[in-house]
Amino acid sequence: MGCSVGPNTFVAVQNIVEAVLNKYQNLVHDHSGLPEFLVFLNDHALNDFNTLFTSLPPDRNYYIAGVPGSFHGRLFPADSLHIVHTSYALQWLSQVPEEVEDVSSPAWNKGRVYYSSAGDQTVKAYEDQFARDLDCFLHARAKEVVCGGLIMILVPGRLNTTPHDRVFSNISYDILGSCLMDMAKMGITSEEKVDSFNIPIYFSSPRELEATVEKNGYFSLERLECLPLKKSQDTIQQKARAVSYHIRAGLEFLLKEHFGNEIIMDELFDSFQ
Ligand SMILES: C[S@@+](CC[C@H](N)C(=O)[O-])C[C@H]1O[C@@H](n2cnc3c(N)ncnc32)[C@H](O)[C@@H]1O
Repeated sequence: MGCSVGPNTFVAVQNIVEAVLNKYQNLVHDHSGLPEFLVFLNDHALNDFNTLFTSLPPDRNYYIAGVPGSFHGRLFPADSLHIVHTSYALQWLSQVPEEVEDVSSPAWNKGRVYYSSAGDQTVKAYEDQFARDLDCFLHARAKEVVCGGLIMILVPGRLNTTPHDRVFSNISYDILGSCLMDMAKMGITSEEKVDSFNIPIYFSSPRELEATVEKNGYFSLERLECLPLKKSQDTIQQKARAVSYHIRAGLEFLLKEHFGNEIIMDELFDSFQ
């Protein structure tokens, strides 16, 4: 779920298919009828499914179908899925929390585009939105996944003890916000326009994930692991460029939707870099 255009998705699918086949071969001695696999690739309807389908591995040993729509709601018939996998997608919120865009609310996020260095109420609004969204995701999957099925969730997050404003990605989003404010000060866009732009992403902690899964009550938590970030050997310039590309790939469509032609993306991301 949240497959994007590949290729990471194909690696995940191959790993799962191989793991299930291995397990099957160890448990069942008559291998004349190995199980066949139907893999559903889901993302928003606007995802580039053409690119995804034209880059499918040619020698795959599974069948494929595309399923457009938001994973925060129902996508499949009841009891029709055995394994659900989602990576780097659940950090995307279904919406910016309403209070954050409400000028009369204490959670209003003036002068910033993200929550991590904002006041407690703004952070709480994002935290609550993430918990609501994850609850909707689990609720929908509870209907769709067969009894005894499995959900694997990989999310970028933070350690229980790491404050929001010390998370690397969060710092990057704050820097993007300050670049936008610089552009507002130069008259390229307005401060109101920046105030009303907020990034709908949230970095949860293991404790928050655990609490939401437990409160939801439909699934039991089999394993929860924090994976270390791989240390890169890149120079600082290479790292800055990589972060800039990464953030641009994820956010350009939202920035264009909000700022239209006022902001030239190359200028914004040059400044960010
Ligand atoms: C950073 S990409 C991750 C792609 C791939 N899973 C990977 O690990 O490389 C996040 C993807 O999640 C999708 N996504 C975000 N929110 C979604 C939602 N509510 N329903 C379906 N897809 C969603 C985005 O459209 C995007 O393609």
